[in-house]
Amino acid sequence: MMIMAAATTTSRLSFLLRPPLSLSLPATTNHHRHLISTTTTTTSKITRPPKKKLPQLDQHLKRRTRSPAPFDPDLHLSSPAPSPHIPVMLGEVLSAFRDRALRSFVDCTLGAAGHSCALLRAHPELRLFVGLDVDPAALASGTARVEALLRESGAEGPRAYTHLRNFKYVKSVLGGVEEGLAGDGVDGILMDLGMSSMQVNRSERGFSVMGDGPLDMRMDPQVCLTAEDILNSWPEDEVGRVLRDYGEESNWYSLQKRIMKARTSGGLHSTSELVQVIRSASAKTGGRQGWIKTATRVFQALRIAVNDELQTLEDALYACFDVLSPGGRLAVISFHSLEDRIVKKTFLDLIKGDEDERYANPATQKDEIHCEEEEELWSKQRVVGRYGTVLTKRPITPSEEEEKLNRRCRSAKLRVIQKV
Ligand SMILES: C[S@@+](CC[C@H](N)C(=O)[O-])C[C@H]1O[C@@H](n2cnc3c(N)ncnc32)[C@H](O)[C@@H]1O
Repeated sequence: MMIMAAATTTSRLSFLLRPPLSLSLPATTNHHRHLISTTTTTTSKITRPPKKKLPQLDQHLKRRTRSPAPFDPDLHLSSPAPSPHIPVMLGEVLSAFRDRALRSFVDCTLGAAGHSCALLRAHPELRLFVGLDVDPAALASGTARVEALLRESGAEGPRAYTHLRNFKYVKSVLGGVEEGLAGDGVDGILMDLGMSSMQVNRSERGFSVMGDGPLDMRMDPQVCLTAEDILNSWPEDEVGRVLRDYGEESNWYSLQKRIMKARTSGGLHSTSELVQVIRSASAKTGGRQGWIKTATRVFQALRIAVNDELQTLEDALYACFDVLSPGGRLAVISFHSLEDRIVKKTFLDLIKGDEDERYANPATQKDEIHCEEEEELWSKQRVVGRYGTVLTKRPITPSEEEEKLNRRCRSAKLRVIQKV
């Protein structure tokens, strides 16, 4: 067992994981039953007409595949130390690599290493593990957890390396690991995009709409550009473009004008000042829910711009596919439609050869699929191309149970591709 990186102590934030799990689990005790019946008897008898589903919602539901897998809290509790971040769609990610002999694995977004620890446990055959993160605090936390797990499991663990590096440089990172270990390519890669709870919960990082902090929003504190720079010094048109294209915010023009007006009185220097501007622009539309939704979109837009997230993602997907071994898999969890669109389009580009891709259903085209994959029920519809197979023609979304237990997973979408 060997791990190469600066280690640090893991924070013991068990309460972040455990209370939601136990509070929201199905009512099996008398105490819970009592609470439910009390609530029922005191509820007024007004019956509301069933809500009509919007046509867009219908369309949206058709385009996704909700995970049928039951949520397994034991998976989460099996990590070496309590996690400050609840890994999203953990069971589904494990399924994407289940029954495959993984010799090497790269976690491009190590975070608190929730996914990594579960994968390391599930694949004792691993010989090489590489974890990347651009955030030094996340990397330190993830490294400590991976280290603890490997120490605990003892014996002949994999070589483990963690790097403070942007995942778009995955190729050069792998080029630097020991000769022979990643020579034939990597058998599994995971990208769990977005922010970790450790980042959102620290208001000094500037990611949170609800807490007050500096307008920072950098995942990598070594880069120069911050949200404050964009808001106070980028050309007006560019600010508008960021809000419109990255936030998909319909009220972008009014916000752009208000941000320019704020510049005339010293500019914006904290997240609460930005929220104030957003609230004043959305005062007449939808109250609290209205401004929170707008603020979420504006923060998303600025975060994407600060971290150049979309171009980085596209470049990294090509790089990851390149370093996969034959038969290797790349799984990506995205959290908003701009990311998901890039993953979907890039996956299709990657598998396409000169010929048109064909749509394959594993139930009817078994000749296209290895025997071991026949049982992969999560992969309902596939797209087969010359260079690979998209195993999730429609993205998989969290189970209802997981959504109830961890609201931060609501918008998650998992897509998986396999190289030929
Ligand atoms: C959602 S968290 C990952 C959580 C992790 N899967 C777990 O189970 O704990 C995403 C992580 O990706 C990191 N990240 C974001 N963009 C990155 C990039 N371009 N390169 C490397 N890491 C990145 C963030 O700093 C964050 O720690």
